[in-house]
Amino acid sequence: MEELEFGGELEKKTAVVEQVIRRYLPGDDGGYAKKIREAMCYSMEAGGKRLRPLLMYESYHLYGGESAIVEPFMAAIEMIHTHSLIHDDLPAIDNDALRRGKPTTHAVYGEPMALLAGDALLNYAYETAFQAFLYTYGREDAEEEDGRIVEALRTLGEKTGIHGMLAGQSVDVENEKSGHLSIDRDLLDYIYEYKTSKLIEAPLQIGAILAGADKSDVFCMNDLGKKIGLAFQIQDDILDVTGDEEELGKPIRSDERNEKTTYVTLLGVDGAREKVESLTRQAVELLETVPGDTAFLIWLVKKLAARTK
Ligand code: IPE
Ligand code: IPE
Ligand code: MG
Ligand code: MG
Ligand code: MG
Repeated sequence: MEELEFGGELEKKTAVVEQVIRRYLPGDDGGYAKKIREAMCYSMEAGGKRLRPLLMYESYHLYGGESAIVEPFMAAIEMIHTHSLIHDDLPAIDNDALRRGKPTTHAVYGEPMALLAGDALLNYAYETAFQAFLYTYGREDAEEEDGRIVEALRTLGEKTGIHGMLAGQSVDVENEKSGHLSIDRDLLDYIYEYKTSKLIEAPLQIGAILAGADKSDVFCMNDLGKKIGLAFQIQDDILDVTGDEEELGKPIRSDERNEKTTYVTLLGVDGAREKVESLTRQAVELLETVPGDTAFLIWLVKKLAARTK
């Protein structure tokens, strides 16, 4: 019953998120730089779970947000995430040929264009997020909401760069092929917290910030994102070993090929599963302390722990 009800809700909400994302994609402006726009949209339009904008949408509404200022931020976080995937797949990093069920951006457009399209998406994310001010511009009571937008922009930048995802990716590549003994749990946790959790913390926090939630609630969303993100990356490690390429839409055994230390190499599949379950329990417990209707989010967090794609 719950599965049917929330499964339908997930489908509807993902469709809303999809519409928002598509509205903000750069179209063809008829100019010379047609190829880069096409390459930017190629991976954005290939699909994906749209988890990060969905989480932002949920946290915004959980804290009572009602305006459209969240929409450019929803599109922006998916652009940043997609930029991270385009670059992560490059021959110089993970060297993967399949993403979201299609040949990777560099496989289709070549490496130079994939590099540029990744950069351009990262930049376009901020061009897009700044558009939130268009909703408040000229309004007499804009000051408070403008303050929230500024804080959301600050958070978006912090969670993406050297205090966030890119710090994690850098330590990840530095420790690749270094032999499984040189990475301990603390270092692996650092990598996961930064390369993955930061881009899950960001949407949950930004949703709360834009809705005008209290500082303690924003903290709580950050904590939640950290746990969901760690569980998400460990499940990703598991799927790299046990998953089905067609269902996942990306290559399996990529970690082994790149001689990566993962939770699976450190703890085995069963140990890694236990870790996903315990982090998921902690996330659910946290959500149970949040006032408001968190039933869908709780269902979603449990669903992510059992995901096969
Ligand atoms: C893949 O993220 C990168 C990781 C952090 C493991 P997703 O699994 O959310 O990828 P899409 O967006 O659904 O393609
Ligand atoms: C990458 O982790 C996370 C980011 C892209 C920031 P992975 O390298 O394990 O992600 P996948 O498996 O390629 O999606
Ligand atoms: Mg990687
Ligand atoms: Mg990868
Ligand atoms: Mg992976």
